[in-house]
Amino acid sequence: MQQGHQSSASIDCKTDLLEADVLIIGSGIAGISAALRLARDSQRHIIVITRETDPKMSSTYYAQGGIATVGDHDSSENFVSDILRVGAGASWPLTVEILVTEGPQLVEKIIIDEAGLRFDRISADQYHYTREGAHSTARILHVGDQTGAAILEALHSLLPSYPNIRLITGVTAVDLITFPHHSLDPLSAYEPITCHGAYVLDTQSNAVHRYLAGATILATGGFSRLYRYTTNPSGARGDGLAMAYRAGAHVINTEYVQFHPTSFAVPESENFLITEAVRGEGGRLLTPDGHYFMNEYAPQWGDLAPRDVVARAIQREMTLHDFPYVLLDISQVENFSDRFPAIYTRCREYGIDLPTAPIPVVPAAHYCCGGIWTDLWGKTTIRNLYAVGEVACSGVHGANRLAGTSLLEGLVFGDRAGRHIAAEPARLIPVKTIPPWEFAPNGTPADPALLHRDWRSIQYTMWYYVGLSRDAHRLNRAIQDLLHLRKNIVDFYQQAKLNDALLGLRNAVQSALIVAESAWHNRRSIGVHFRTDSKDSAEKP
Ligand code: SIN
Repeated sequence: MQQGHQSSASIDCKTDLLEADVLIIGSGIAGISAALRLARDSQRHIIVITRETDPKMSSTYYAQGGIATVGDHDSSENFVSDILRVGAGASWPLTVEILVTEGPQLVEKIIIDEAGLRFDRISADQYHYTREGAHSTARILHVGDQTGAAILEALHSLLPSYPNIRLITGVTAVDLITFPHHSLDPLSAYEPITCHGAYVLDTQSNAVHRYLAGATILATGGFSRLYRYTTNPSGARGDGLAMAYRAGAHVINTEYVQFHPTSFAVPESENFLITEAVRGEGGRLLTPDGHYFMNEYAPQWGDLAPRDVVARAIQREMTLHDFPYVLLDISQVENFSDRFPAIYTRCREYGIDLPTAPIPVVPAAHYCCGGIWTDLWGKTTIRNLYAVGEVACSGVHGANRLAGTSLLEGLVFGDRAGRHIAAEPARLIPVKTIPPWEFAPNGTPADPALLHRDWRSIQYTMWYYVGLSRDAHRLNRAIQDLLHLRKNIVDFYQQAKLNDALLGLRNAVQSALIVAESAWHNRRSIGVHFRTDSKDSAEKP
């Protein structure tokens, strides 16, 4: 087991049991924001775990465009109103208000002052704010086109200053430890469902340890890898959502899956993100035969219409004319290679001759606006369990998310969860009544062919039946197929030796079912949830 910072917590690595005041699962912006706040405000012993070997590998790292704040010619009221408008009436005004009030202060205090990050500027004392879809003004701070990576590097660089944070990499949470489910004490049946940490697989030794904690924070990110085309890294497989659901947490709004209009579309490449900021700085979408189409779909916004509108417009053009992709013309973007160096380099690696050639793009699953229901402090419906960042549904994003707000949400609600836990008395852990993990007797190694095939089945099912356009027929079919698949995968899980890939597959099929069922139940078209069989979809693309 590789360790980051050794805390003074009473941790005994020789047994199967590790104990801390707070367990944080996930090391992206939301998890680290919670850890930093707790470490600053309390003497609590904090363990942060991640399944990655590099703890910075998370969806945060891949965020290109930037972090939204209140810009120069802007106001908090404008920012709030943009979020609410894009959220299609389904954003929770209370959490939106919190985001816009606390977010810019935290960006200033933690990211700029404490972590020392320099966002791009136009002069020594003036930031360069960029613009993305559906913002009424330019308000997005960025570091070239690698803002998430820069923010995460900066936040992680603060961790060694806090000896009470211990970072453990290469471990995968199997399930939350919740009472009464895992309790050896029959009287715990009379208590509300309570979380006491997680069973965690050490991917080197294949042992499952009990990570016990008075409070547990899920910061595991989203599930866009459930889709055939996605901008997300391999960890976005719904681990936290599925674990919380199995434990009985309330989960909401998962049908609101945001598709990014522009992911790179060259057959032998990954669909890496082409940030919306490219269109914010003058990029234009064209069909492969050179026709500009966005004014037909959104005359008021053109290329910077909300993401769902642009993504569906692209899909419609592709379907109507049988195009394999559309083109992003960047000829009007000034100094492309300086402003978007990572995209420039990646595209050229795949033979796209920027800046003269256009970039082939297709929509791809990008972000889940829903997730585990949380209150204003990141608390879930399970006692001692918090959720922050993309795995959670704080309500900020409603039925569609405004660009640049996901990093801000992770920062703000991670911080609030940390504050809430720090302000409460430390919680006792009933160690003696928590049993060790029981392995399947005679487990055989998981067959990689089955793992691969089942993953592909989930991804194609989600892409075609629970994708950009949905109807009852497709959703019914998805649910039937996923139910069948889940039965086989759970049988497989119960018999095979545990490994990270098998855990991911089990979580993926569960998360896919959660999304498909919630899409089936919501018969209205709203935000990114577009039902072709709903009468309120008639005039939309
Ligand atoms: C982008 O840069 O286009 C993505 C940023 C976001 O999803 O907020």
